[in-house]
Amino acid sequence: MTDERLVLTEMDGRVAVVTLNRPKALNALSPELIDQLIAALEAHEADPAVRCIVLTGGPRVFAAGADIKAMVDATPMEMLRRGNIARWAKISAITKPIVAAVSGYALGGGCELAMMCDIILASETAQFGQPEINIGVIPGAGGTQRLTRALGPYRAMELILTGASIGAREALAHGLVNRVCPTESLLSEARALAATIAERPPLALRLAKEAVRAAAERTLREGLEIELRNFYLLFDSADQKEGMRAFIEKRKAEFTGE
Ligand code: CAA
Repeated sequence: MTDERLVLTEMDGRVAVVTLNRPKALNALSPELIDQLIAALEAHEADPAVRCIVLTGGPRVFAAGADIKAMVDATPMEMLRRGNIARWAKISAITKPIVAAVSGYALGGGCELAMMCDIILASETAQFGQPEINIGVIPGAGGTQRLTRALGPYRAMELILTGASIGAREALAHGLVNRVCPTESLLSEARALAATIAERPPLALRLAKEAVRAAAERTLREGLEIELRNFYLLFDSADQKEGMRAFIEKRKAEFTGE
């Protein structure tokens, strides 16, 4: 266990800003870093004061992938036993909205980490790709599935088979990112977007995220069932009563998260 702070967290109102902090290794996602990231995200998940999360690597690099040095000599059983990569699923299990602010390389596990988030803002320097093929493996944290859903099978196949990366503009054109921002304003735009989301009723955010995710992960029939169940469920929340009453009374709703 390392004492190094590989992940930094800062509160900005109702938004938690989580920054990967291993700049010398281009934020390579070592098991220790992933453990700290999961711990930070799970703490924010449990904290009612946090309504939305921003995940960034800083202005220079998002993350250059899983830590190659930490797995070069591993056997499959060691990878299995350590839960390497498998435990990244805890990141995509977070129910609060996560906005990724991606600047510089988002490669391999870095691209996969960005795609585990719900919204991706990119700076002009952002580069997305799955270069695992160049080191004798394939993406292992969702790249073959999430990139294919984001870009379509032909573009994703080309990127995964060649290991090439795409820039922010191309990622935008293909729908992988929500918008491209100047590097200097990337984080402030991500914080502002997260702050807007954070004003919305938390239970509705959670159930909306679950339903939208279902569109990518389930059949249409299952997705529609989840959507309708979540829609009905929200009528048991105080925020639904408050939101609808505030509309009728022509005032701003005060959401409590209840
Ligand atoms: N793992 C471990 N260390 C890494 C790393 C990684 N993924 N990426 C970069 N680093 C380290 C380098 O080893 C180097 O360390 P030293 O100074 O100790 O030598 C330091 O970060 C700086 O890197 P470079 O000197 O290589 O920087 P560069 O600017 O010349 O190149 C780069 C940048 C093109 C991103 C290059 O670092 C690179 O190709 N990185 C590896 C990218 C990659 O293959 N990612 C996929 C990893 S596997 C994976 O992610 C599996 C999965 O699906 C979960």
